[in-house]
Amino acid sequence: RLKGGTSPLIGVLIPSFRMPFFADLIQSMQVDGPENVDLVFMGANEDNLEASIYSLIERGADALIFGRPIPEHQKMIEFLTKRNIPFLSLDQSADLDAKDQVMVREWQGGKMAARHLMELGHKKITLLMAEQMTDNMHQREAGFISALYYEGIEPIDNVKTQLSKHGGLVAAEKIMATGATAVFTLNDEIAVGLIRGLYEHGVNVPKDVSVVGYDDTDYAEFFVPALTTVRQPVQQIGIDALNMIIKRLRDPDLPQQNDTLELKLIVRESTGVPR
Ligand code: RIB
Repeated sequence: RLKGGTSPLIGVLIPSFRMPFFADLIQSMQVDGPENVDLVFMGANEDNLEASIYSLIERGADALIFGRPIPEHQKMIEFLTKRNIPFLSLDQSADLDAKDQVMVREWQGGKMAARHLMELGHKKITLLMAEQMTDNMHQREAGFISALYYEGIEPIDNVKTQLSKHGGLVAAEKIMATGATAVFTLNDEIAVGLIRGLYEHGVNVPKDVSVVGYDDTDYAEFFVPALTTVRQPVQQIGIDALNMIIKRLRDPDLPQQNDTLELKLIVRESTGVPR
């Protein structure tokens, strides 16, 4: 361990192993992250979150990385601080108040998606967001909506669904009912589910409806139609988070470390001009 000189054990908590964004994140930490760290990944939902944190500590974790929000985080912060266990948050810092954070420019990401759709000529635009939104997700939604308002376009409705492919699939009818020619979805998973649902109702993407995803998970370019999406620098997020926590372990008195990474719009086949 680092305290003794060599590899620290770092516990990483994510919401689920099934979400492609987090699978990509794990891959980046394991394959591209610094050597000389031992990693333990845990998928934790709200019910087993506290138990997962305690179990990581019992197993000897020297530091924790939170890739999901921590409800009642004040209690958790006190617990970890008392035990001198450093932690950082990635992806959703404002939900945790962590000292060290790796974030992306979510607001800009939402704005990029909106501008792309407006440049194509869309005016009837809606959003398909998640029922449970974390702080970073709210920021991407707000960036999207404010970019529309800036150009005098009011979004039609704002449909909510489960954060999954199935969530996208079952939202297709509601999206069709909005009459929108373009949809911004919270992430790629919802986007591919939605495209499938629209297809089952005879609605073609992008001819009838354009869809923009978010994340650029590894299947986005292989899907038909290939997804237009906002690329998250997931590899960099993983590498930076590990480097940051190692620095913190080496020097607990370092000033707060903040890393805010850029996003990029990747234009593929799921968006086009409105009918
Ligand atoms: O795909 C999962 C989503 O949840 C990502 O957009 C990521 O930012 C996380 O918050």
